[in-house]
Amino acid sequence: MLPVDPTKKISFRRCICDGDLVIVYERHDNMKAVKVCESSELQNRFGVFKHSDWIGKPFGSKVLSNKGGFVYLLAPTPELWTLVLSHRTQILYIADISFVILFLEVVPGCLVLESGTGSGSLTTSLARAVAPTGHVYTFDFHEQRAASAREDFERTGLSSLVTVGVRDIQGEGFPDEFSGLGDSVFLDLPQPWLAIPSAAKMLKQDGILCSFSPCIEQVQRSCETLRSTFTDIRTFEVLLRTYEVREGSVECGGGDEAGSLLSRPFKRRQRSSEGSNGRDNSSSPTVMARPSGETRGHTGYLTFARLKCLY
Ligand SMILES: C[S@@+](CC[C@H](N)C(=O)[O-])C[C@H]1O[C@@H](n2cnc3c(N)ncnc32)[C@H](O)[C@@H]1O
Repeated sequence: MLPVDPTKKISFRRCICDGDLVIVYERHDNMKAVKVCESSELQNRFGVFKHSDWIGKPFGSKVLSNKGGFVYLLAPTPELWTLVLSHRTQILYIADISFVILFLEVVPGCLVLESGTGSGSLTTSLARAVAPTGHVYTFDFHEQRAASAREDFERTGLSSLVTVGVRDIQGEGFPDEFSGLGDSVFLDLPQPWLAIPSAAKMLKQDGILCSFSPCIEQVQRSCETLRSTFTDIRTFEVLLRTYEVREGSVECGGGDEAGSLLSRPFKRRQRSSEGSNGRDNSSSPTVMARPSGETRGHTGYLTFARLKCLY
């Protein structure tokens, strides 16, 4: 998951070893995380894949089954993990995660406090962002969820960067031992306004808080609470549009085909056919693009605020 060696140095090892976690990639919407074990096999609709054939191959390799089918073996990253992890709760996806990491200014060495941990989707990206010298302290009041998250961080090799605590953050706040030490705090809680006074205590001067809420009423209530101790309060909804880009062929005078890739949006003739004879070859291959049907709509609102300097 992270190219960090035991001495906390970043090291890029690119070959698959026995015991590694790999992402077995069939298509962008069909992947799974598999732990490599020399004596094991993976079976899917393409046949049987021996793990022993994978060992020593570089991440990114295409590997074959006994029937000549293939999959790709990708290095696990927080982006891919978010797509394959087991959903024990609602999770944050990459559009919100990217925005959170940027606006919370999470960089190597930061100390980040988070609640709730949920399925650990955001935590995984926070851990990579603070590595190799920072730390994420994440809290959930649900014991089983906290335990499963801990297991996942072991599996993904992040456990030295993340500590999972069991605690009711809305009721008790964050532990006092973190007072004034947090570079940033992230809340994904049903009643975040109850945790905001404690979050403010945890932050260093000028520290930043972010709260994720699916409903605007939660945002309004949180903003009311934030005003007494925070400034620069801003709320965003991040909407992401994904595109399908494929090669197609346009028939001369052909109309739009409903639902097909040829139905407009952006067309670009391939370089090889551009300017070859100066004439318009109406059935030449063309790169077609259109918004993907998988585009996700509303997930939630992200409210950011910076601790006021009270001196
Ligand atoms: C939506 S999930 C968080 C998902 C997470 N952000 C992710 O990306 O995987 C919300 C979590 O908050 C936890 N939670 C709810 N109330 C809490 C409280 N008072 N204290 C601590 N955790 C709480 C729930 O158990 C749940 O796991």
